[in-house]
Amino acid sequence: MYGLLRLVALAATFSSALAALQGFNYGAAFRSGAVKKQSDFRAEFTAARRLLDAPGDGFTSARLYTTIQGGTANDPISAIPAAIETQTALLLGLWCSAGDRIVDNEIQALKTAITQHGLNFTSLVAGISVGSEDLYRITETGIKNGENPGVGPQKIAAYIQLVRDALIGTPLAGTPIGHVDTWTAWVNGSNQAVIEASDWIGFDAYPYFQETQANAIANNKDLFEEALAKTKTAVGGKPIWITETGYPVSGQTVGMAIPSVENAKVYWDQVGCPRFGKENIWWYTFQDATPDTSKPSFGIIGGALTDVPVFNISCKGIHHS
Ligand SMILES: *[C@@H]1O[C@H](CO)[C@@H](O)[C@H](O)[C@H]1NC(C)=O
Ligand SMILES: *[C@@H]1O[C@H](CO)[C@@H](O)[C@H](O)[C@H]1NC(C)=O
Ligand SMILES: *[C@@H]1O[C@H](CO)[C@@H](O)[C@H](O)[C@H]1NC(C)=O
Repeated sequence: MYGLLRLVALAATFSSALAALQGFNYGAAFRSGAVKKQSDFRAEFTAARRLLDAPGDGFTSARLYTTIQGGTANDPISAIPAAIETQTALLLGLWCSAGDRIVDNEIQALKTAITQHGLNFTSLVAGISVGSEDLYRITETGIKNGENPGVGPQKIAAYIQLVRDALIGTPLAGTPIGHVDTWTAWVNGSNQAVIEASDWIGFDAYPYFQETQANAIANNKDLFEEALAKTKTAVGGKPIWITETGYPVSGQTVGMAIPSVENAKVYWDQVGCPRFGKENIWWYTFQDATPDTSKPSFGIIGGALTDVPVFNISCKGIHHS
């Protein structure tokens, strides 16, 4: 009897430890450029949880790009109290492409949030990303796309160490720290220092943008799996978290990839559905954010808050190959 109870308890422990995070990316500002307030984040997190016919246990996690509230030097982002109100698991982000002083401010904002909210906050933190696509932005493609500035691998690795040091003695001391970048950055041997510094690898992939390849929607699943397989090989056993992927519902054709609601659903069904509830995944995106991210539009709900997605996201009747 005792043995059985112990086994049941053990199984419960394992299943909660294995429960994958399922969420969206959340920008800090609206399409208008207006900074989101606590009530705005609360409304978004609540709508994401209530999404009609959501697969699995629903979308209960939020990935952020910055920990600083817009318009302040180093106040914690108001997504944090909103996450506490709505019990939203957080993948925090520290913005690392604006110089050392801003990174210091990001760390200060994080420490202030720990002091202000204690365990109510820290118990929701699933991980911390030091930077977002900084390595991609210093490549030829990133520069050509006008996405500079970025930061090199040695600097990102040093920032990761800075964050680890800053968290010693706080409840977030053991939190898994990683970095988010495009898969092309992870398979680039020059970025090895960041892989070594990271506890987990944040993987961003958009076959839609892979215009030098045959990237028609019919081939998008294969392109995604190929990128993931190459990244797995490159990062030598470090856990991979899918931090961004998605397909636009509208916008311009890139190579052979034509944005449409139908194609966005195909991508969701083929790339998202087999993974929801099994692997950590933050889809891009819930609601279109700043002006430049609404064209193309990746928002599952478009640009206005609602809990009705633009296509059926249920994953029901989807056969995985
Ligand atoms: C944590 O949440 C509880 C319950 O809402 C609240 O009573 C307490 O004041 C909170 N603690 C902090 C440090 O905010
Ligand atoms: C590989 O990474 C290095 C360092 O981040 C970067 O300078 C270079 O442009 C990258 N190469 C490609 C082909 O992206
Ligand atoms: C989505 O599709 C599933 C499976 O066909 C169906 O059961 C469900 O009612 C659909 N949801 C909506 C909102 O149409």
